[in-house]
Amino acid sequence: MRRTVKIHDIINESDTVRTFVFHYSLEAAPGQFIMLTDFAGGEKPFSLSDSDTTTFSVTIKKIGSFTSRLFRKKIGDFLSFRGPFGTCFTEKRGKVLLVGGGYGTPPLYFLAKRLISTGAQIIVVNGARAESDLLFCNRFEKLNLEYQNITQSGCLGKEGTSVDLAQEVLNDHEIDFVYAAGPELMMSELKKLLESKPYEFLLERYMKCAIGICGNCTVDPIGIRLCVEGPVLSNKIIEQLTEFGKYHRDASGKKVVF
Ligand SMILES: Cc1cc2nc3c(=O)[nH]c(=O)nc-3n(C[C@H](O)[C@H](O)[C@H](O)COP(=O)(O)OP(=O)(O)OC[C@H]3O[C@@H](n4cnc5c(N)ncnc54)[C@H](O)[C@@H]3O)c2cc1C
Ligand code: FES
Repeated sequence: MRRTVKIHDIINESDTVRTFVFHYSLEAAPGQFIMLTDFAGGEKPFSLSDSDTTTFSVTIKKIGSFTSRLFRKKIGDFLSFRGPFGTCFTEKRGKVLLVGGGYGTPPLYFLAKRLISTGAQIIVVNGARAESDLLFCNRFEKLNLEYQNITQSGCLGKEGTSVDLAQEVLNDHEIDFVYAAGPELMMSELKKLLESKPYEFLLERYMKCAIGICGNCTVDPIGIRLCVEGPVLSNKIIEQLTEFGKYHRDASGKKVVF
């Protein structure tokens, strides 16, 4: 079902990233996404960066024509969405590590809030190329968890990648479960560290229908549809994916190497 909602608030996270907040009670779980449209052409998937009984939000990076149009919207303008769609992160107890990179990090904030209510012991590592790409630092710092930043330039937090920081955490702590969202190459490097440790990663593929019909988001070789059987996938599924960390497909289905 499509619903049309007024933009309740717009938060500037950086020059190229904004959070759009809507007053709407969406029964959604961390990792799920919506298909958003401004009625001017096309519909695109965005992960929920937060959701509770009264409000939900998406955090969007301005990349091309669709997201540039969204950036011209003002508080009080209307957008329309379908969803929530897809699988969610499973909420574990014990000691968990959340690894975020760039604009992939915001859905992990939604997850962290849920995990706090399950009583999990949470460590978050958040990495980006530059300070301006490091999202939600202030929000994470207000939560009751262990949080560290890392940037490739070292301008904020340590110098390196979120995978470097994840390695340090894995060396120093007995981690029961790992969650990650961010660039696929980051997650593919992270996977190498995890060996037999269970994990869930949030993947992105080009999506059109989001309801399992068009087949545009299928992943080789097992053909799972990422909009239905994903976007959150367990280690058991990811270990079967030959395209993970290697390529994805564009709107026409052509392979694009990462
Ligand atoms: C499950 C999922 C969750 C996502 N969550 C977020 C999010 O929280 N924040 C965010 O900023 N972006 C998110 N994206 C990516 C977002 O959909 C694209 O950045 C957006 O569609 C770009 O549109 P554009 O017209 O501005 O750019 P374009 O110039 O059209 O595209 C730029 C790039 O965005 C990607 N893209 C474009 N259209 C789609 C599509 N229909 N499906 C998937 N990827 C596409 C492609 O990699 C493309 O190369 C998510 C994608 C998926 C699949
Ligand atoms: S986007 Fe159509 S099957 Fe997934």
